[in-house]
Amino acid sequence: MEYKVITYSEEETIELAQNIESEKFSNMVICLIGDLGTGKTIFTKGFAKALEIDSEITSPTFNIIKEYTTGEMPLYHMDVYRLDGKVEDLGIEEYYTKKGITIIEWADMIPDYLPEKRLEIKFKTSGDDENKRTITITPYGKKYEELCEAVL
Ligand SMILES: Nc1ncnc2c1ncn2[C@@H]1O[C@H](COP(=O)(O)OP(=O)(O)O)[C@@H](O)[C@H]1O
Ligand SMILES: [Mg+2]
Repeated sequence: MEYKVITYSEEETIELAQNIESEKFSNMVICLIGDLGTGKTIFTKGFAKALEIDSEITSPTFNIIKEYTTGEMPLYHMDVYRLDGKVEDLGIEEYYTKKGITIIEWADMIPDYLPEKRLEIKFKTSGDDENKRTITITPYGKKYEELCEAVL
């Protein structure tokens, strides 16, 4: 089962993130996939705002992992684009069970290190409208299926 959502502005993508956040649970993992500038970080910002994280979310491209602990639940925000090969050193998998929420940008670059149960969200631009994003959401695992049924 996969769900398709089309957004026509940054705000609509933020709204989608907020809806998903409303069904959050401990150890949730969200995998974001899509080219540069498609909305992965915007989605994460919307999610963080809904979590009431007060610090600004910045792209963790050079840090790989950023932890935000001032919200309702810890948020582990990763961008694995520049990881090439160093994935073992980071202990990414430890974050999946740290009782927070993990959001991974460019998750498709580390297929062997993703948990079996996760929410996958793919972002695509379209040629005709520069603000249009086709967002395909695929739940893997019962909890994620229920989340999708509840909010999509
Ligand atoms: N529907 C939309 N959803 C998300 N972002 C959008 C949308 N339309 C335009 N944008 C713009 O696209 C850019 C997405 O940037 P960003 O989230 O940093 O991309 P990524 O993290 O995928 O590289 C932002 O400048 C945002 O304003
Ligand atoms: Mg980004």
